[in-house]
Amino acid sequence: MLPGPTNVPERVMRAMMTHIINHRSDDFVELYTEVIEKTQQVFQTQNDIVAFSSSGTGAVEASVINLIKKGDKVIIPVNGEFSSRLSQMLEWQGANVIKLETPPGQNATFDQISEAFDNNKDLKAFYVVHNETSTGTMVNYLDKISDLTSRNNAYYVVDSVSLLGGAELPVDKWNIDVCIAAGQKALAAPPGISPISISPRAKKYMIENPPPTMYFNLARQFKYYEESKHTPFTPALPLLYAYREALRMILEEGLEARFKRHKACSDALYSGLSSIGLTPFAKEEDRSITIIALNYLEGLEDKTFRNTLAQKFRVLVAGGFGNLKGKVFRVGCMGEVNRYHVMRTISAISSTLAMMGYKTNAQEGLKIAEEKLKAL
Ligand SMILES: Cc1ncc(COP(=O)(O)O)c(C=O)c1O
Repeated sequence: MLPGPTNVPERVMRAMMTHIINHRSDDFVELYTEVIEKTQQVFQTQNDIVAFSSSGTGAVEASVINLIKKGDKVIIPVNGEFSSRLSQMLEWQGANVIKLETPPGQNATFDQISEAFDNNKDLKAFYVVHNETSTGTMVNYLDKISDLTSRNNAYYVVDSVSLLGGAELPVDKWNIDVCIAAGQKALAAPPGISPISISPRAKKYMIENPPPTMYFNLARQFKYYEESKHTPFTPALPLLYAYREALRMILEEGLEARFKRHKACSDALYSGLSSIGLTPFAKEEDRSITIIALNYLEGLEDKTFRNTLAQKFRVLVAGGFGNLKGKVFRVGCMGEVNRYHVMRTISAISSTLAMMGYKTNAQEGLKIAEEKLKAL
């Protein structure tokens, strides 16, 4: 139940047990074109896709170095570790970064964002972390942002590393220029493949203004794909096989059913864990579907709690980041997550709390969770 890497289905794991093919062969073309086409379906886009052999940070960095030049004005909401890292990458690139800072667990409102656009007509781009994994918040108004980006003629870039595949994110409908995901989160693949989509106008800009970089150079990726359906460099072949299988499973389930399953499990975890005595960290209207961050109870020691949960009940959850270390823990609700994981997690957390001397009511938690799971 980690916020990534998440559980990987057996079928996806088995897909890796195959020969290492020549990445300049027809077999590779067949593999990679299927990966690209199926990623387009999952991103709900006709845009170009590149599946980087890297962790999510590589694809996020690519979104910065291919689009932003020294002095470009960029707006980014910042309220946790991943939005801070992204704003740092933008600063390192020499951008003039306008940070809309809010306390962790709370998102900037749409009105605050709209006001920042009004005050910065000469904007180059708006960057946003869709789902702030470090604190369990999710931005709920991404559908409305393109009204602002088109008004200011700015690029729209979304880091959806920890949400895409687990909740609605129609890239074309919402006019997102660059969107980033990662295999090891809601896509339920092993870590190491990170897809990124690029709109035609962003692509044109990147081809005309390529960055002085080799591996994450998107213009080079477009060129190789257009000429031969290859990647410029040797891709992580076993991981691509696994990622393809994960995409097949997502599309077999259907996006709508998958989003519904994530939402029902998330609602069940929030309600079940609340009723055994824990309180969610994030403000109610900003709560993430895929990451449930919970406040530690008074005196509950992070390491002892998580070690007991892992060793006695084989349930893995994550701790907090930075100054939230020891104050919150995070439960992932993504990928394969289902009724079994939800019920087992609530009962294991409840048992751990009881073992550590806290009053808790597992029966109540499970009953409420079961109610929410009826939506499945
Ligand atoms: C929102 C977000 N962005 C970027 C990253 C970085 O991804 P990775 O650890 O795969 O490099 C993460 C990782 O958890 C994330 O949650």
